[in-house]
Amino acid sequence: MFIRLSPFLILLSVATSYVAAVVTDKLGDLPKRPFDFVVVGAGAGGSVIANRLTEDPEISVLLIEAGGSNEGVLDSACPGLSKVIERKRSGELSPEQRLGLEFYMYLCHSSSALNDRILPVARGFILGGTTSINQMAYTRGSSEDYDRWARITEDEGWKWDNLQPFIRRNEHFTTPADHHNTAGQFDPRVHNFDGMVSVSLAGFPGVIDNRTIATTRELKDEFPFNLDMNSGFQLGIGWVQGMIGEGTRSSAATSYLASKFLKRKNLHVLINTRVLRVLETDSRESSFRTVEFTQDAGKTMHTITASKEVVLSGGSIMTPHILMHSGIGDTAELKALGIKTVHHLPSVGKNLTEQPIVRNHWLIDSTQTLDTIARNATLLAEVTKEWEAHKMGPLVDPPLSFIGWLRLPKDAAIFKKVPDPAAGPKTSHYELIFANGALVHPAAATGNFFGVSTSVSSPTSRGSITLNSSNPLAYPLINFNLLSSDFDRFTIREAIRITRKFMAARTWDGFVLAPPTNATTDDELDVYINQNAATENHPVGTAAMSSKRADYGVLDPDLTVKGLTGLRVVDASIFPRYPAAHTSVPVYIVAERAADLIKEKWRVRY
Ligand SMILES: Cc1cc2nc3c(=O)[nH]c(=O)nc-3n(C[C@H](O)[C@H](O)[C@H](O)COP(=O)(O)OP(=O)(O)OC[C@H]3O[C@@H](n4cnc5c(N)ncnc54)[C@H](O)[C@@H]3O)c2cc1C
Ligand SMILES: *[C@@H]1O[C@H](CO)[C@@H](O)[C@H](O)[C@H]1NC(C)=O
Ligand SMILES: *[C@@H]1O[C@H](CO)[C@@H](O)[C@H](O)[C@H]1NC(C)=O
Ligand SMILES: *[C@@H]1O[C@H](CO)[C@@H](O)[C@H](O)[C@H]1NC(C)=O
Ligand SMILES: *[C@@H]1O[C@H](CO)[C@@H](O)[C@H](O)[C@H]1NC(C)=O
Ligand SMILES: *[C@@H]1O[C@H](CO)[C@@H](O)[C@H](O)[C@H]1NC(C)=O
Repeated sequence: MFIRLSPFLILLSVATSYVAAVVTDKLGDLPKRPFDFVVVGAGAGGSVIANRLTEDPEISVLLIEAGGSNEGVLDSACPGLSKVIERKRSGELSPEQRLGLEFYMYLCHSSSALNDRILPVARGFILGGTTSINQMAYTRGSSEDYDRWARITEDEGWKWDNLQPFIRRNEHFTTPADHHNTAGQFDPRVHNFDGMVSVSLAGFPGVIDNRTIATTRELKDEFPFNLDMNSGFQLGIGWVQGMIGEGTRSSAATSYLASKFLKRKNLHVLINTRVLRVLETDSRESSFRTVEFTQDAGKTMHTITASKEVVLSGGSIMTPHILMHSGIGDTAELKALGIKTVHHLPSVGKNLTEQPIVRNHWLIDSTQTLDTIARNATLLAEVTKEWEAHKMGPLVDPPLSFIGWLRLPKDAAIFKKVPDPAAGPKTSHYELIFANGALVHPAAATGNFFGVSTSVSSPTSRGSITLNSSNPLAYPLINFNLLSSDFDRFTIREAIRITRKFMAARTWDGFVLAPPTNATTDDELDVYINQNAATENHPVGTAAMSSKRADYGVLDPDLTVKGLTGLRVVDASIFPRYPAAHTSVPVYIVAERAADLIKEKWRVRY
């Protein structure tokens, strides 16, 4: 197949030459003695595990990553270019080209309800995984989300209060790029200032900021201001905290895999290496401590066995893919593809959950939005230079300024039909994301926009990851069933209606020139939704943990695969329910606790 290389890919291949000796794609560079742990995938989950386990110099870890190094990749490091990456990955490439860009973009065929559109599903294929390409919003979710995990798994360790040490360990709250006075923009009491991932408030003021804040005063009953949505109480509208330090993306790679950690003699990182399967190491103890991998698209296969455990951290799409190709999944489904089942576990790949999003753009009377930069290559080059030289200017932030987490009214008609799916009365049903510019591609040729995206934060639609063939190098089939439930459909309509109320505040008078749509009835709104709904790139739940006694689920509450030994999963696939949040912080929290659980099991020194 002919694939036109995107500029992003070229950047990545150049970047390989910067790789330090400890990050390698040469098998000969690895020590010959066995590793205690083999971790698959250097994203949010895997990077934490590799870092924390190697705090003990006696423990050796091999971290295997399918993608290349993040070093020197400008589009990844510069927060304002994060949308540019996404544009390169989606809008400018035809579906065939996107398919060639293995891992950067999966395709998901939507239902006829969404006009049979092909929905892109972006994933990072690089050290840091998706944290190297995401939008950096730091959101923990609501305390009730984690308390529900504890109830489902019957493990108190997953309760919000008990997770506080792990939340703190992950976070390094710091000053924004412009060092402005942040009093009244966050609550320092709920943050930690010496953890791993840098978190800061926006470092460049936006033209929509003051009016958004003014609206939370003018319409405070419906749109209350929340000083800090990460306190455990998320409801309301507040300033976005971004995983950014000194105007630069703070990813799992720049934090947990920073050079001071890569210097550890007991940590080895093997890049450009794709794991295809996990293999049974010892059938007497049902142990799966062996991984099969390739560095040349399957021409040559290698295996390596961990003496203690294999940890799968390939993300919600690749983790179930690897498990099923290894014969761990539903027997009937695997048999139909000619894959021999070694362990019948029918929940693998099931209950895939995603947040549907509709991006709404209000035309405004201003030239001071990101739209002006997005359509002017000269200006983009200028602000990129400013970022490179001083880490200042409009590119120090991703294009999101405020987030609102809100609930449907108690008497909403939908609750006569279905139970409230939120984790509790303090957990949101939907999310509003406010951006100083339009967030879609292609950037409008004219006009400046206030982006108000609407998404369902407690979705009830469930989909699945299934295999299309027995070839582990082929793509899985991804079916989100996006907006297939009555609740999700109802909620996204209401969320769009609510944005109209928000924009009807007096503060927007004269500033707003045109709405994104004139649709008002359910039918009219559905036409608009079906044309515009997308995935928020937050897939979860495909290798979910459940109580030890449950007759479903993939993992026990300690994240070990049910019925097997030596195999654990640590990534977004383990979530038993959606947290009403963007997903990387919940993965970090899970991984920090998982590292503790692993250390406890093997009595590793802290
Ligand atoms: C465009 C976009 C915007 C987002 N915005 C936000 C945001 O603002 N805030 C937020 O919190 N979250 C956001 N997210 C989601 C968040 O980044 C992910 O939920 C999170 O990174 C998931 O962590 P993970 O460990 O499950 O997987 P990942 O971070 O995806 O890591 C998986 C890693 O495994 C590697 N891998 C996969 N298969 C194999 C294999 N077979 N062999 C070897 N390696 C393999 C991958 O290359 C990757 O490095 C966004 C995601 C996207 C795509
Ligand atoms: C927003 O309000 C602040 C404080 O009142 C003020 O200093 C600033 O100039 C305002 N910004 C804009 C863009 O109007
Ligand atoms: C999906 O999750 C629900 C709980 O939300 C559970 O009852 C069901 O058994 C799960 N399905 C599978 C196939 O695991
Ligand atoms: C693009 O930006 C440059 C540099 O700021 C400016 O001189 C030029 O007028 C802009 N072009 C358009 C079409 O606005
Ligand atoms: C699934 O396999 C069929 C038959 O080989 C192929 O035509 C199709 O493109 C595959 N689908 C995906 C999503 O790879
Ligand atoms: C909404 O209606 C106005 C007035 O009829 C029209 O000018 C505008 O184009 C419509 N907007 C959209 C997005 O359809």
